[in-house]
This record gives sequence, structure tokens and C-alpha cells, in this order.
Amino acid sequence: MSTELAIETTGLVKVFGENRAVDGIDLAVPAGTVYGVLGPNGAGKTTAVRMLATLLRPDAGQARVFGHDVVRDADAVRSRVSLTGQYASVDEDLTGTENLVLLARLLGHGKPAARARAAQLLEAFGLSEAAGRQVKNYSGGMRRRIDIAASILNTPDLLFLDEPTTGLDPRSRNQVWDIVRAVVAQGTTVMLTTQYLDEADQLASRIAVIDHGRVIAEGTKGELKASVGAGSVHLRLRDPAQRPEAERVLALVLDATVQLDHDPVALTATVGGHGTEKGAAEQAARALAELARAGIHVDNFALGQPSLDEVFLALTDRKGAAA
Ligand SMILES: Nc1ncnc2c1ncn2[C@@H]1O[C@H](COP(=O)(O)OP(=O)(O)OP(=O)(O)O)[C@@H](O)[C@H]1O
Ligand SMILES: [Mg+2]
Repeated sequence: MSTELAIETTGLVKVFGENRAVDGIDLAVPAGTVYGVLGPNGAGKTTAVRMLATLLRPDAGQARVFGHDVVRDADAVRSRVSLTGQYASVDEDLTGTENLVLLARLLGHGKPAARARAAQLLEAFGLSEAAGRQVKNYSGGMRRRIDIAASILNTPDLLFLDEPTTGLDPRSRNQVWDIVRAVVAQGTTVMLTTQYLDEADQLASRIAVIDHGRVIAEGTKGELKASVGAGSVHLRLRDPAQRPEAERVLALVLDATVQLDHDPVALTATVGGHGTEKGAAEQAARALAELARAGIHVDNFALGQPSLDEVFLALTDRKGAAA
């Protein structure tokens, strides 16, 4: 059975002067899912999204959204997508209600329908209390929510969310994540860019990791974790003199490159765990037991998700090894 593709790109390129911001990206995004695009500052995420949303013309390659070419059939693409930008697009001087009603009117809704839709979204996004307040007085989390609300006034088939939670506190991030889940449950495909692995992990079914305008890894979450590690252990020793021995034991048990931090008692390593958190926890427990057996005093031991830095290290390490 063939899956409908919401997005399909081949060799997509955007050049700014000498800078190949997007340097030949191939993507296939199945409809009805959240697709995560993970990458550091300047990787080319926003540029790629802007081309897919028809806001920027590609310099080479092709991109289709629900089968429509983003250049030749730009109008057809526009009728099916919506973009929540990295920077808020609502009017600061208007209230939450005024913003949503205005935008709904621009989308062709009559006054009563626009009012009803605005009220419904404000309620759903927990903004009813703040509905009468000017947006410039909203907190960062409220701003992000009203921005997403504005982009789904008409339920789009494809929603681009460009770093929807950058700079938000954990509670606001969770609220935005719930909104994304609700939007997908309605049948919308979401392309989400993020700098946070845990965010892609929470929401996306497939993830593309991009760096310097290229896809350096792509796959389901499980595939990605199996290749870069499902977890990351951080440990601190009592005695810095034991660090070389601890490094040797960890490398052996975890079958991973061990990072030596600046702090002379600290070590970090990724844990493969066969791509599952449970696997990672078991492997980390084994490592701890082996360290104890070797007589190494561990003061502090923590297992978390690998950071974006660690993912990049693992991916570039592997490329180096293959070369
Ligand atoms: N309009 C533009 N003119 C010139 N250079 C640009 C333009 N837009 C982006 N760039 C450059 O293209 C590269 C990719 O930028 P882009 O905004 O796509 O990155 P990003 O992955 O979205 O980063 P961030 O996480 O910081 O938002 C950067 O080097 C950036 O400076
Ligand atoms: Mg960006």
C-alpha cells in the first residue's frame, strides 16, 4: 500500500550569495504524521520551510506539497498549508480576540463565524482569560499559543511549525505539545522544526537531522536512536585518578565513545540500548555494576536523553569512521 506524501523534495537548494543555506535536501513526509526537522542554529530549517510554504523560491531541485509543485502550483499549495513562523506574526497592539477575528475575516469568514471561531480557539488554547488583553502584554508561552491558533483558523492540511517552543518554560512547552497532538488528531500533517531532540522525540514519528543545509540522518525515532543512542549517561567520580579506568570500563560495556568533560571527574557517553529507553536503562545499570566491580567510586550517575550536541557528535563520528 502506498502512503500519500504530504511533502516530497528532491535536491532542494537555496543559495544566499556564497552561502548554500539549503544544499540538496531530499525528503518524503507521509501525510497525517508529525515530521521533525532537527538541527542547530543556521542549519537551514527555516529556509527549507519557507520554500515549502511558497514564501521563498528554490534555486534548484523540486518540492511538491500534496503533489503540487511549490513553484508552478504555488496557489494550490498555499490553499492547503499554514505556517507558524519562528517569530510571532500577530499584531502586538490588538487583543487576542481582535487578532483572531481580524485574521478569520481576512480568510473570508463572516463576522459571527469569525467571532465564534476566535472564541473557540481561545478557549481551546487556554487563552479565554487573556482574550481581551493586548498581545504585547502576553507572556512568551501565550504568544506562541495565539500564534499557533492564528495559523489553524482554517484547519490546514499541512501545518509548518518553526521552532514552536524555543525559549518557553517546561509548562508552556507541554501546552504547545498538547496543541500539536490535538491538531494532528484532526488529520493535519505537521512539519515541526526544532533544536531539541526531546521535542522531536515527543511529537514526531519520523525525524530528519539537518546540518549545513544537508540531511545527515533520517528515519523513524527508533532508527535514529538505534544509530545515535537512546540515552546518555553522565557520571562524576570521587577520584580524578580513576577516570582513565572508568573510561575504559564504560567504553567496553556501552560500546560507545566516551567523552571526557573539562571537569576532571566527569564523563559522558551515549547508550545505544537497541533504540529503546528501557534498553538504555538496562545497559546503563550494567555499566554502573561494572564500575563498582572495578572498584571505581561513582559520586553521581545520571541517565538522560542525548543532547543535540551528542547526537551530532555520534553522527559525525560515524561518518568519520565510515570514511
Ligand atoms: N534572507 C536571507 N539572506 C541571507 N542569508 C540568509 C537568509 N535567510 C537565511 N540565511 C542564512 O541561511 C542559513 C540558514 O538559515 P536558516 O534561518 O534557514 O537556519 P535555521 O536552521 O532556521 O536556524 P535557527 O535555528 O537559528 O532558526 C544561515 O546561514 C542564515 O544566515
Ligand atoms: Mg529558523
